[in-house]
Amino acid sequence: MHVGHPDKEKGMNTDGLRGAVAIVTGAAGGIGAATARMLASRGANVVLTDVNQEQGFAVAAQIGEGARFVAHDVSNGCDWKTVVSVAEDAFGSVSILVNNAGIAPPPLPLHEVSEADYRRVVDVNQLSCFLGMKAVVPSIIRRGSGAIVNVSSVAGLKAERGAIAYTASKFAVTGMTKVAALDLAGLKIRVNSVHPGLVDTPMVRPEGGAQAFDPILQFAAGLPIPRPGEPDEIANLIVFLASDSASFLTGGSYAADGGWTL
Ligand SMILES: NC(=O)c1ccc[n+]([C@@H]2O[C@H](COP(=O)([O-])OP(=O)(O)OC[C@H]3O[C@@H](n4cnc5c(N)ncnc54)[C@H](O)[C@@H]3O)[C@@H](O)[C@H]2O)c1
Repeated sequence: MHVGHPDKEKGMNTDGLRGAVAIVTGAAGGIGAATARMLASRGANVVLTDVNQEQGFAVAAQIGEGARFVAHDVSNGCDWKTVVSVAEDAFGSVSILVNNAGIAPPPLPLHEVSEADYRRVVDVNQLSCFLGMKAVVPSIIRRGSGAIVNVSSVAGLKAERGAIAYTASKFAVTGMTKVAALDLAGLKIRVNSVHPGLVDTPMVRPEGGAQAFDPILQFAAGLPIPRPGEPDEIANLIVFLASDSASFLTGGSYAADGGWTL
């Protein structure tokens, strides 16, 4: 017997997001906040996590009833257990994980990068994706199926001068996504990575206001689409990959970069 989705039978296409339970890391601002808002607007319940508690609570409060905020360092395995418990207690088993939190240190040639700084970038950008997938997969199994989106970067597809740790961590996310897609396919879990180009978020806005942003705007002007992206333009891709519209996609690396990697 074929059992249709109730919304589809009413002629509504919610892409399986209505009633979904999503965890979005780094959701206090930038791409993570845009993704959390977009998932909620499509009917998903969302657990937002971040080290920035004040802003994280504020974004969750703006979203309203279907959102919770958890203070969370993504590089800490114990914190991940709390995040999954909060999601399950509030909304039930998890169906979507967006590993989005990340840090990008200022550019420095590799011989000037300290071991401690290198390790911190790898912990926050790379180890976090492993810990997140490991913590959330049992909950997705209880749900029956789900999707994971790991936010890498153009720096996970091509070398970036002065970004040894960031580039290493983001290439690792690209590779881990493909292994996870293989390991989890039999459990009905799809895993894909998203590769933003230059996006106008706090990460790329240096201290010093509009003037300090000028060199970044000049760089963007040389791209095929000659401007920085907006957080919603990345969230669109993340939400699509998390939805049932992407039901045949797994292990893919999808750039949203205005043509930077052409
Ligand atoms: N903005 C860009 O141009 C760009 C380009 C390529 C990739 N990305 C990637 O997109 C993702 C989102 O970046 P963004 O541009 O929105 O930056 P952002 O700085 O606005 O957001 C990143 C969020 O992660 C949080 N965070 C940092 N360390 C954390 C930790 N240990 N635990 C939990 N949260 C932590 C920050 O508090 C922040 O809210 C990152 O993975 C970044 O590497 C961004």
